[in-house]
Formats: sequence, C-alpha cells, structure tokens
Amino acid sequence: MKQQDTDSYDKSPQMSDEEYLRWRNLIQERMGLCIRETRMDFLKRRLWERMRYLTIPNYRDYYEFILRKDQNRTEWQHLLELLVNCQSAFFRHLPSYDALMNTVLPEIAKNYFPQKQTLSFWSVGCSRGQETYSLSMAFHHILGQNTHLNASVIGTDISFRALERARKAEYSFLEVRDMPDIFREKYMTELGKSDAKEGKSILLNKHLVKYRVNEQLRKPVTFRFFNLNLPKTDDIPLQDIIFCQNVFIYFSIEDRAKSISLLLKHLKPGGYLFLGPGEAVGIKVSGATLTHFKDTLCYKRTREEVHVQITQR
Ligand SMILES: C[S@@+](CC[C@H](N)C(=O)[O-])C[C@H]1O[C@@H](n2cnc3c(N)ncnc32)[C@H](O)[C@@H]1O
Repeated sequence: MKQQDTDSYDKSPQMSDEEYLRWRNLIQERMGLCIRETRMDFLKRRLWERMRYLTIPNYRDYYEFILRKDQNRTEWQHLLELLVNCQSAFFRHLPSYDALMNTVLPEIAKNYFPQKQTLSFWSVGCSRGQETYSLSMAFHHILGQNTHLNASVIGTDISFRALERARKAEYSFLEVRDMPDIFREKYMTELGKSDAKEGKSILLNKHLVKYRVNEQLRKPVTFRFFNLNLPKTDDIPLQDIIFCQNVFIYFSIEDRAKSISLLLKHLKPGGYLFLGPGEAVGIKVSGATLTHFKDTLCYKRTREEVHVQITQR
C-alpha cells in the first residue's frame, strides 16, 4: 500500500463490532458475499474508499445511504467491485487443464462421435476471461480438427468491470507471461506487432505490448452476469464441462455446498465439474463421482439425482 493510502486509511472512522456484523449481514444478503469474521480491517478499508469518494463521514451514514429507496443498483455495484478479488491467470491450475485435455475432451468426443455436437463449457466466476479463453483454447487445441464438434463457452461473473475486460479479450504482457508459450503463440496476437505491419508505431517495450485472443477463439465465447449465491434467473443450459475455481474464497460452507449442488445439476450426465483443490472440504456429494485425476478436484456427473451434504464445519 502507498504511504498516502496508509495515511488516509488510518483516518478511517472506528467501526464497532455491532456495525461490523450489520455490514457483513447486509453484504451477504444483498450480494451473496461472505466476509469472514476476521476481516474487519479489509471491510473497513473498502467501505472507507467509497465513503471518502462520496464524502460520507461514518459507516452508519453510508449504511443508511446505500439502503435508501432511491439508491439504484449502481452504488451496490461500485461497492461490490471493491470487495471482490478478480485475480486470475490463463491455464491457472495446470493439472486441471492436463486432465481436461488428455482425458476428458477425448472421452467426450469419442462418446459423441459421429453425431454433430456442440460441446458446452461454463467458466463460473470467470473474472477477466482468462479461464474462459483457456477453455476455448483447450478445445481448439485438442478437438479443433474434429469437424463433427463445435464449442460453446460461457463465462459468468458478478463483477461488471471484469466482464467488460473479458469481452475486450486484450491482455497485458504480465497477464500472459506465465501461460504455456504454445497457447500464446498459437491463439493470441501481439497487438504491437500487427500495428507495425500496418505501418503504425512499433512498441519496443515488451511490457507495453498487448495481446489479443484471436477471433477464432473468441467466436464461441459469450460473457454475462451470474451470481452463484443469488441466482435470479437460471437459463443456463446443461453443460459438458464446468470450471469453477478460486471463486469460493469468500463463501460460507453453506453457500459452497449450495453452489456445488447447483453446478452439478447443470451438468449433463457424464459431464465434468472442475473445482480448485481443497474447495470441497467438509462436503459430501452423491450423484457424481470424484475422479482420480492427479492433483485435481473434479466430479463426473452420473445419472442419479445430485445430493450435497455438509459433513464438517
Ligand atoms: C479469484 S477470481 C478467480 C477467477 C478464475 N476462476 C480463476 O480461477 O482464475 C474470483 C472471481 O469470482 C467472482 N465471484 C465472486 N463471488 C461470486 C459469486 N457469488 N458469483 C459469481 N462470481 C463470483 C469474482 O468477481 C472474481 O472474478
């Protein structure tokens, strides 16, 4: 944190335990985000950032302000953007992508053959689109030559800012630096280089170079808002593959269990749900079997009804 930020944070008003609880409950109820008991400093800092902007002197007044009837959704969205963690990366959890590309995709393709089919992928909590485009790249890499198969990839998130970035499909050098070279080289275009071809300025500093996901990979991809904890409309069709990784960080165990159940119910029989390792601790699932993919937490939907139970808090 910069010195200036630290100073202004130090000037933030005191928050009582009672106020903290009130804010946590409100945020859970309105946004479906669970702020843990130990994160008072985090919450104070984020609220104070918004309050300074609005020149509201204390948490109680901001609470009343945000609850006012005439307050439209914009203020809630501003606050939400400050509370979510949108950190992401292409091919972030490599063992999951290894399992997807080496086992799952060939198996699904074989099961569908020779029918013409669209394989459906859902990236839940897609942030700025890195996971969504990674799925599109994985499909093209493994099955792009199979003329009987197409892909449809949907990315959903609660951050409008992240969704806007995702739709642009442009990434900085730092954002693509750690992804496997082969995917960057095959499926992205260095914007500095293509501009140079058209006689425009050449960007010499590689940190300024932007990378754009190629059209072919963007084509099957759509993005939209979807709050996993408050699913208002549920028009997402059944999927072949769902990725939901690093989204449960702020979820209570009850919300995790509900989300896992919702996601499993959105799988076709034989479809796969990839979570992040350790994200289903204390949760027992029936109606889906745990796969043995190395270092990966992945369920395969069976034909039975799905039941999700909390076994340990
Ligand atoms: C840490 S990022 C993970 C991004 C990506 N899945 C990955 O693994 O790299 C978490 C994302 O989940 C989104 N998120 C948080 N709570 C959510 C909810 N209730 N419903 C949907 N998305 C949510 C956040 O906005 C953020 O973009």
